[in-house]
Amino acid sequence: MTYLETTAQFYQEVAETPEVGLCCVQNGSFQLPGLNIPDRMREMNYGCGTTVQPTELMNQPTVLYVGVGGGLEALQFAYFSPRKDAIIAVEPVAAMRDAAQANLVLAAQQNDWFDPSFVKIVGGDAFNLPVADESVDVVAQNCLFNIFEPEDLQNALQEVYRVLKPGGRLLMSDPIATRPIPQKLRQDQRLRAMCLSGALTYEEYVNFLVETGFGNIEIRSRRPYRLLDQDTYAVDEDLQLDSLDSVAFKVPTPEDGACVFTGKTAIYRGKEAVWNDGEGHTFQRGVPLGVCEKTAGKLGKQFPRDIVITDSTWHYQGDGCC
Ligand SMILES: C[S@@+](CC[C@H](N)C(=O)[O-])C[C@H]1O[C@@H](n2cnc3c(N)ncnc32)[C@H](O)[C@@H]1O
Repeated sequence: MTYLETTAQFYQEVAETPEVGLCCVQNGSFQLPGLNIPDRMREMNYGCGTTVQPTELMNQPTVLYVGVGGGLEALQFAYFSPRKDAIIAVEPVAAMRDAAQANLVLAAQQNDWFDPSFVKIVGGDAFNLPVADESVDVVAQNCLFNIFEPEDLQNALQEVYRVLKPGGRLLMSDPIATRPIPQKLRQDQRLRAMCLSGALTYEEYVNFLVETGFGNIEIRSRRPYRLLDQDTYAVDEDLQLDSLDSVAFKVPTPEDGACVFTGKTAIYRGKEAVWNDGEGHTFQRGVPLGVCEKTAGKLGKQFPRDIVITDSTWHYQGDGCC
């Protein structure tokens, strides 16, 4: 069997018999006023973080959701786009499509505002998305792309890029590895399907997005996800996985490279009350300005005495400059 066939088989099993806590982190699902999540759907939370970023969901966007799972995030997206077919959920495993559909019917019984027709569940996979070029505002995937081997990941990201409208955004959540995962574990198809051994390092992961052409990338959250401990996984040392939530924008890449925001700020500590670095960044003395990695690097090097660069918070929420 290929690893993709093993993955499909695994998700057929957990569609038929939910496996509580398979992927999700302990803090549970994202609560929204007036949104009731059926227990069965909650049990089938197979995401590792959240892709539901309210600030990116204004004006009822059309969302293409890849890998529907039990339908939890499709329902959450429908909360922001309560209209017919606003959410197109692509899923290759028939049993998972059926489970998600049944969960959405339950959700309609518990939420007056929701109608299952808001979510259109379709067969298909991440490598051949069943929608036209530049036709959707948002693409989201939670805990799926980490399963893909590099060549497949590249193909999946190119598909996402193809279907997004200019200015559209890719909302993702995936595990990343705090150091490279040994090859032996990477080749374990079942662990890979369980989102435990396919993870890339942060640098590799972001580089895939940059190489695809996303000109602006924001890290919205990074937190511990799982521990591959020495005894259970036969690794030399315990290996921590983090869960990374991100937003990548389909905007042109600046000539000097993509802007990646991780929550760093630059603080001017020189003599002027207001100071400009000559490249369009204006600082008030002592007041932090959110900056991307590229600008943080340049400013830190050019003005080592007058500019302090703070660490990545890994919780960037906008308002910075590149
Ligand atoms: C880890 S689960 C995540 C489910 C959901 N995103 C969530 O947060 O609960 C991965 C999902 O992707 C589906 N999947 C597996 N292979 C896929 C592929 N090649 N293309 C699209 N979806 C796939 C699985 O069947 C499963 O529903």
